[in-house]
Amino acid sequence: MKPVLPHAQLDWDDQGRPYSRVFDDVYFSDKSGLDETRYVFIEQNRLAERFAALPEGGRLVIGETGFGTGLNFLCAWQVFEQHAAPGARLHFVSVEKYPLSHDDLQRALALWPELKVFADQLLAQYVAIHQGFQRLVLDNGRVTLTLLIGDALEQLPQLDAQIDAWFLDGFAPAKNPDMWTAELFAELARLAAPDSTISTFTSTGWVRRLLNAAGFKMKRTPGIGHKWEILRGAYLGWPETVPAPAIPKPWFARPAPVAGERRALVIGAGLAGCASAASLAARGWQVTLLERHDALAQEASGNPQGVLYLKLSAHGTALSQLIVSGFGHTRRLLEHLHRGVDWDGCGVLQLAFNAKEAERQAQLASAFPEHLLQLLDREQAQNRAGIDLQSGGLFYPEGGWVHPPALCQWQAQHPGTQLLTHHDVLDLRRSNGQWQAWADDRLLAEAPVVVLAGAAEIKRFPFSRELPLKRIRGQITRLPETAASRSLSTVVCAEGYVAPARLGEHTLGASFDFKSDDLTPTAAEHLGNLKMLEEISPDLVARIGADTLQPEALEGRAAFRCTSPDYLPIVGPLADEEGFMQAYGALSKDARRIPDVPCPWLEGLYVNSGHGSRGLITAPLSGELLAAWLDDEPLPLPRAVAEACHPNRFALRRLIRGKA
Ligand SMILES: Cc1cc2nc3c(=O)[nH]c(=O)nc-3n(C[C@H](O)[C@H](O)[C@H](O)COP(=O)(O)OP(=O)(O)OC[C@H]3O[C@@H](n4cnc5c(N)ncnc54)[C@H](O)[C@@H]3O)c2cc1C
Ligand SMILES: C[S@@+](CC[C@H](N)C(=O)[O-])C[C@H]1O[C@@H](n2cnc3c(N)ncnc32)[C@H](O)[C@@H]1O
Repeated sequence: MKPVLPHAQLDWDDQGRPYSRVFDDVYFSDKSGLDETRYVFIEQNRLAERFAALPEGGRLVIGETGFGTGLNFLCAWQVFEQHAAPGARLHFVSVEKYPLSHDDLQRALALWPELKVFADQLLAQYVAIHQGFQRLVLDNGRVTLTLLIGDALEQLPQLDAQIDAWFLDGFAPAKNPDMWTAELFAELARLAAPDSTISTFTSTGWVRRLLNAAGFKMKRTPGIGHKWEILRGAYLGWPETVPAPAIPKPWFARPAPVAGERRALVIGAGLAGCASAASLAARGWQVTLLERHDALAQEASGNPQGVLYLKLSAHGTALSQLIVSGFGHTRRLLEHLHRGVDWDGCGVLQLAFNAKEAERQAQLASAFPEHLLQLLDREQAQNRAGIDLQSGGLFYPEGGWVHPPALCQWQAQHPGTQLLTHHDVLDLRRSNGQWQAWADDRLLAEAPVVVLAGAAEIKRFPFSRELPLKRIRGQITRLPETAASRSLSTVVCAEGYVAPARLGEHTLGASFDFKSDDLTPTAAEHLGNLKMLEEISPDLVARIGADTLQPEALEGRAAFRCTSPDYLPIVGPLADEEGFMQAYGALSKDARRIPDVPCPWLEGLYVNSGHGSRGLITAPLSGELLAAWLDDEPLPLPRAVAEACHPNRFALRRLIRGKA
C-alpha cells in the first residue's frame, strides 16, 4: 500500500496546456486562462478595489478550492502588487488534493510570461510540499500562501481562518461531483468572514442552490469565453435552520487582538525567539529581541550542525502532522541561505538498526509518499551514504543538516527587529498596558506584547512558572574531516547522528543527560558519542580515524534541550493560572460541562518554547503560529495541532485528569 496523494497526473496539449488525467478536464480555459481567471475570480470579488482600500498593516485573506497550477494565486498576487499599499499583506489559502510536481508547475507557469516575476518566487519556494498544511512565505512576508494538501473535505474542516474572498475552482461540477457538495459549501460558509464574497466559473443550477442554502447569496452574471454565465455572491450569514458550527472551547479561543501599537519584546534569541521575531517583523511589528549573551544562538541553537530529522508516526498524530508541516516550512526558509555553509540538503538516512526500528520504518514507508521518505536496502543505503553500513534504512531525500546560528541570524535580520545582546531579563512586570523587562532595578525595554522564547528559563517568570518544561543536557562532538571521510554524502542516524563535514568538521551527536546541570563538555560523553558512531558505521569510524582519537582531546559543546511532557512545543497565548483554575474548576467534576466563561488571558503575553530535540523543524513554524494567534490570522496548522501545542493544555489536563 502506498496511499498518500500522488502528484497530479497531467497530459499536455499541442499548445503546451495541462490537462488532468484523473478528472478528464482542463486546468484553465483553452481560450485565455488568464482573462478567465481575472474576470471570474479577481473582478467578481472586486479585488483591485478591496486591495486598494487596505490600510497600512491591513490584509485580505483569499481562500480557494483547487490550487492546481497556481494561476489564480499569481493573478491575485499581481493585482495585489498593483493596488495595495506597501504595508498591506495578502494571505492566500488554497486546498489541493493532487499537487503538481515542481517540473509540471514550472512547465505550466511558463505559459504566462507576464506573471514570471511572481511565478519565479513561487517556484523557488515550491519545495517539500507534503500532505497537510504547508506554509510558504513570499515577498519577504508580504504575501503568505498556505497550501492545504489533501482532499478539500478533509482539510478545510481543520482550517481556522476567516476568509474574505472565496475562489470556488476545482474542475467542472460534472467532472468532479465529489467536491461540489453541500458539505463543502458549509465549510466555505463556516470559514467566511462577515463580508465575504465568492465567485465560481460555473453557473450550474444545483451549485447555485446549494451555495444559497449554505448562506451565500448567489447571482448569475454574464460569463466569458465559452462560459455563457458564471456565479458570484456574498456571504449573508449562517442559515438559522442549520445547527451552528462548533466553536473552539473558551481556553483555546482566540484572545482579543492587541489594539494600538504593534510592538513586541521577544525574550531569548535562539531558534524560537528569532523565528518569533521574524514572523512578527514580517507583519509590520516592531520587535525588540532581548538576549542575555553577547550574540544570538549561543545555547541549544548554537551547535555547528543540527539535523532536519523527521521522527514521524504512521498514525497521523498531532506531533507527526506538526513535523511534516514544520519540516516543509524550515526547508523552504533554508532556500534563502547559503548551501554548503549554512545548510545542506544532502538527505538524511535513518538506519534500521534493530528489528523494531525496521518494522517502524516499514509502516512509515507505507504511510508516506516516496518524495518524502524511501526504504533503502543495505546496498542502496551504502550508495547513498558513500560509506559501508550494517543495515538499510529510511531515506529522507529532502532532509539534511543546518548550521542553526545561520538560520537564527537570517531570521533576526529584518529591519523591524532590534537585537539587544547582554540583556538578561530577570523580571517581567505589567504596567499601564505594557510588559516591562527588568534587570534588577533597570528597565530594559517595554512593549504591549511579550513573547517568552527563553527555552526552560521562562520558568523564572511567575506567569510561566507552572509550564512543565524540563532541561535535558546534550553534548555534540566535533570530528575533523579526513580524506577518507569526505565520501560521507548524507546525514546518517541511528541512536545518534553524524553529518557530512561543514567547514572541515563533522558533527557527531548527541548525548542525553537528564540529571547534569553542568555545561562543561565531558570526555565520558564524547566517548558515548563515539560509541554511537560505531553503531552507525564502523567503516566511518575507520575513515575518520575516530578509534585513534583520545576522548579527552576531543572538542565539542553542550547545551540544554527543553522538552514538554508530551514532546510537543508550547506555543500561544498564556492565561492567568489562578484565574484559569477558578474559571474552569467545574471541569474537575464534570469534564463535559464547559463553563461559559471567557479565558482569563494575560493580555499580550505569549510563549514559544519546548522544542525538545527538533527545534529546527518546529521552531520556525511556531513563529508563524504565534504571529497568527497575535494577528488574528489563518493558523498555519490544523486547529487540533495548534490546540495540541497550546499553553493551556497543561492546566486543562491538571483539571480534568488531576495531572499535567
Ligand atoms: C546537543 C543538542 C543537539 C541537538 N540536535 C538537534 C538536531 O539535530 N536537530 C534539531 O532540530 N534540534 C536539535 N537540538 C534541539 C534544538 O537545538 C533546540 O530545539 C532549539 O535550539 C531550541 O531553540 P530555543 O530558541 O527554544 O532555545 P535556545 O536555543 O536555548 O535559546 C534560548 C535563548 O534564550 C536566551 N534566554 C533565556 N532566558 C533569557 C532571559 N531571561 N533573558 C535574555 N535571554 C534569555 C538564552 O540565552 C538563549 O539564547 C539539539 C539540542 C542539543 C542540546
Ligand atoms: C481547474 S484546477 C484549478 C486551477 C487552479 N485554481 C489554477 O489557478 O491553476 C482544479 C484543481 O482542483 C483540485 N481538486 C479537485 N478536487 C479536489 C478535492 N476534492 N480536494 C482538493 N483539491 C481538489 C485538482 O487536483 C485541480 O488541481
